[in-house]
Amino acid sequence: MKNKIARLISLKDSTKLGGGEEKIKALHQKGKLTARERIEILVDEGSFQEIDVFVKQRSKDFGLEKMEILGDGVVTGYAKIHGKDIALYSQDFTVLGGSLSETNAEKICKIMNTAMKLGIPVIGLNDSGGARIQEGVRSLGGYADIFLLNTLASGVVPQISVILGPCAGGAVYSPAITDFIFMVKNSSYMFVTGPNVVKTVTHEDVTFEDLGGAETHASKSGVAHFINENEIETLVHVRKLMEYLPQNFMDKPEEKEYDHATLTPQKKLEAIIPENPNKPYDMKEIIALLVDEDSFFEVHKNYAENIIVGFSRIGGMSVGIIANQPSILAGVLDINASVKGARFVRFCDAFNIPLLVLVDVPGFLPGTDQEWNGIIRHGAKLLFAFSEATVPKVTVITRKAYGGAYDVMNSKHIRGDFNFAWPSAEIAVMGPKGAVEIIFKKEIAAAENPESELNKKLNDYVEKFANPYIAAERGFIDDVIVPSETRSRIIQTFSLLKTKVDRNPKKKHSNIPL
Ligand code: HXC
Repeated sequence: MKNKIARLISLKDSTKLGGGEEKIKALHQKGKLTARERIEILVDEGSFQEIDVFVKQRSKDFGLEKMEILGDGVVTGYAKIHGKDIALYSQDFTVLGGSLSETNAEKICKIMNTAMKLGIPVIGLNDSGGARIQEGVRSLGGYADIFLLNTLASGVVPQISVILGPCAGGAVYSPAITDFIFMVKNSSYMFVTGPNVVKTVTHEDVTFEDLGGAETHASKSGVAHFINENEIETLVHVRKLMEYLPQNFMDKPEEKEYDHATLTPQKKLEAIIPENPNKPYDMKEIIALLVDEDSFFEVHKNYAENIIVGFSRIGGMSVGIIANQPSILAGVLDINASVKGARFVRFCDAFNIPLLVLVDVPGFLPGTDQEWNGIIRHGAKLLFAFSEATVPKVTVITRKAYGGAYDVMNSKHIRGDFNFAWPSAEIAVMGPKGAVEIIFKKEIAAAENPESELNKKLNDYVEKFANPYIAAERGFIDDVIVPSETRSRIIQTFSLLKTKVDRNPKKKHSNIPL
C-alpha cells in the first residue's frame, strides 16, 4: 500500500508542473500566472478539489503520440468562493498553449454538466491558443460541445469567463455566451480573426491590443464587462462579483447585515440635482447615497456610459441598479445603452436579483446613425427585458422621463411594482421646447413678438407638464417622495416585495428582438 500511495502522490505531483518548468518560467516572465496559481487566488483557501488529473490526450498525429502530460492542459474541479460551491476550469498555457483537445473539452463538459445538476456557478479561466490544430475536427467538436452546454446552462447557473491570455477564433463564442467576461489589460485578447487575417482581408494594420485587447472590448465592443490591471486584481474582482449572485435560478442572493443608522434622511440627496434642468449631474453620486456603504459594484463601467448598470446592496439585499447617467450625453438612450441595459436586466431577472431603476432620460437619441443601425430593434430589447422581468422592480424618477424612454425605463405600465418620483421629476411626451414648438407653431409664428410668445408658452408648458403630479394623479407614479427619504423608502419597498410572485404566460420561449 505504501508504495502505491507513494506512486499516486508522485503521479499527482507531476501534474502540478503542467508543460514543465521552462514553460512556467516563460509564463511568469510575461507577468502571467499558471493555471493552478490562478485557482489558488480565486477560491477559498484549501477548498479546491481537482478531478480528472489522470486524463491524457488521445491524439496520435504530428508527434502527439509521445505526449504524456497528465491532465492534458486543463485543470478542472470544484471549490468554494465565500463558502459557496463553484465548478471551475483553468486552461494551462504551458501545455501546447492551452489549446483545446477532445479530452480537454470532455473535462470541461464534465464539470459543466455536474454544475447544472448541483446548481452551482461555473467559472472558466481561459488562456488558450484555440482548437488543438493537430486534432482537427475533433477539437472543433469539443468546442461545439462546450458551446452547447454554455447555452443550456444559461439562466440555470451563473457562468463567468475570465480571459487571461489569448482567446481567438471560434473559441471566443464560449465566453460570449456566458454571463460575464473579465479581461486583463495588456495580456488578454479576444478576436474572431487575428491581425494577420485582418490585414489580408481588409488591408487594415492593427495591433493585437487595438483589435481585441481588454480596453477595446471594455469600451468599444462591450464584449468585456470588467477589466483590470493584472491577473491578481482580476481574480479578486471575480470573487467580489460572486458576493452578489445566487447559486442558481432557484436560489436567492444571500442577504447581509447593514447599518440601520443609514436609514436616517440623506440630506445630501437634495443638493445633487441642479436648479437648471438642462445642467448635468452625476447619477453615481445618487447611487452612492442610496446603497449600503461602498456596495456599488459597477458592470460595463467603460461602455455606453450614458447608462449605468451594476450590483449593489440595499438594506443588505443584493439589488441590480439600472440608471440613466445625465452627465454623459444627457443620459439619452442609444443603441449601446439599450443593449447594455437589456442584458443586465435579463441577468438579474434570470437569477432573482431585484431591480432598482433610476430615471433621468431625455428620450432616445435621434439621427441617421442610430436609425440606420437599428435603434428601433435595439431599444426594443430594453423595453422587452423590463417588460418580461418578474423580479421585484422599483423605479425612482429623479428628473426627466420623456417620451418612449419614460415607458421603457420600468414604468408602471410594464409592471414596475413601485414607481416613485422626486418633486423635481418632469414626466411628459417630450421636453418643453420641442413640445411648444410643435403644438404652438402657428401661434408663435403669428405673434407680434414670437420670442416672447414662445417663452410664455414654455412657461405654461413647464407649469403644467414638467412635474410628477399629473402622472401621480393617474397612479402611474405610486408616490412623490422627498429625495432625502429615498433610501429608507426603497429599503422598505424591497422588503415588502420579498414575497412577490409574478409569472409570464406559458410558452416555449419568448422572441426578444435580437
Ligand atoms: C496546438 C498550439 C496551438 C494550437 C499554440 N500552440 N496554439 N498547439 N494547437 N491551437 C502551441 C505552440 O505550438 C507552442 O508549442 C505553444 O503552444 C505556445 O505557443 P507559442 O506560439 O510559442 O506562444 P506565443 O508566442 O505566446 O503565441 C500564442 C498564440 C499562438 C498567439 C496563441 O500560439 C497562436 O497564434 N496560436 C494559434 C492560434 C490559432 O490560430 N488557433 C486556432 C484558432 S481557430 P511549443 O511546443 O512550441 O511550446 C479556433 C477554432 C475554434 O480555435 C473553433 C470553435 C468553433
